[in-house]
Amino acid sequence: MEFCNIILQEEGRIATLYINRPKALNALNEDTLLDIKAAVEYFGGSDELDVLIITGAGEKSFVAGADISFMQDMNAIEARRFGMLGQEVFRLIETVEKPVIAAINGFCLGGGCELAMACDIRICSERAKFGQPEVGLGVTPGFGGTQRLPRIVAPGIAKLLLYTGDIIDAHEAFRIGLVDKVVSSEELMDYVRRLAMKIASRGQVAVRFCKVAVNNGLQTDIDRAMVIEAELFGLCFATEDQKEGMKAFIEKRTADFKGK
Ligand code: CAA
Repeated sequence: MEFCNIILQEEGRIATLYINRPKALNALNEDTLLDIKAAVEYFGGSDELDVLIITGAGEKSFVAGADISFMQDMNAIEARRFGMLGQEVFRLIETVEKPVIAAINGFCLGGGCELAMACDIRICSERAKFGQPEVGLGVTPGFGGTQRLPRIVAPGIAKLLLYTGDIIDAHEAFRIGLVDKVVSSEELMDYVRRLAMKIASRGQVAVRFCKVAVNNGLQTDIDRAMVIEAELFGLCFATEDQKEGMKAFIEKRTADFKGK
């Protein structure tokens, strides 16, 4: 596939998407968002790929936000359209029925933090910095930040970050639950690849159902959420993976899942 501003690498059943504009600290312009959209659609539709890792090219940055030069002269209609494109692409990441892991290697600001929050799991290096600095530019976050941040961290902490635009380090991000694990910079990609491979070794129908159950369950009341879980749990018993997984346990061997 041809991309302008990203690199998509495939290794076994794992794909790694590098946002690749290091000179602009991987800021997101329209072309970059369209590249991400095409890559996620390809990943979602591929029978060969199970897990997607999203990271930033270069040493310094995951993504330092939406591209300020690109947005500077927009009118209200253009900005609304750009915001909706970012929202659509990040919602695609959130809803694609396969796991997506953010490997956060540096600045994770504004649209970058919003991108990371759309991923299922966030692992960062000790060098990572997080924040929603948009109010310092006279705007609100526009790619889902006002909605996902208070769903991930406590609403008061979300408002603290949104109203001040303060930038926090990796350990503070871990403390408030914005990231799930902090590792050293040298370890980051190895750690995330090992995690992706572990997930890919499990029954993929079940992994994907877990994503659907968590996402859909969080959006509804507990009674309806339990119905969602029961239906997906039941459906697992129509898969070859369930037969193989339970047979392998009884026979004391490693399961050979086919994702069917
Ligand atoms: N958009 C466009 N270009 C950006 C950028 C961004 N978000 N962030 C950094 N860059 C560019 C800089 O303009 C600079 O380019 P030049 O070399 O051509 O001057 C290059 O990347 C390197 O940046 P700095 O020289 O500023 O690097 P630094 O180490 O001194 O500072 C930083 C790093 C603290 C991340 C700083 O670059 C910064 O504050 N960036 C902006 C962060 C931000 O405000 N993000 C939110 C954007 S708005 C948004 O995301 C809205 C939304 O929700 C949709």
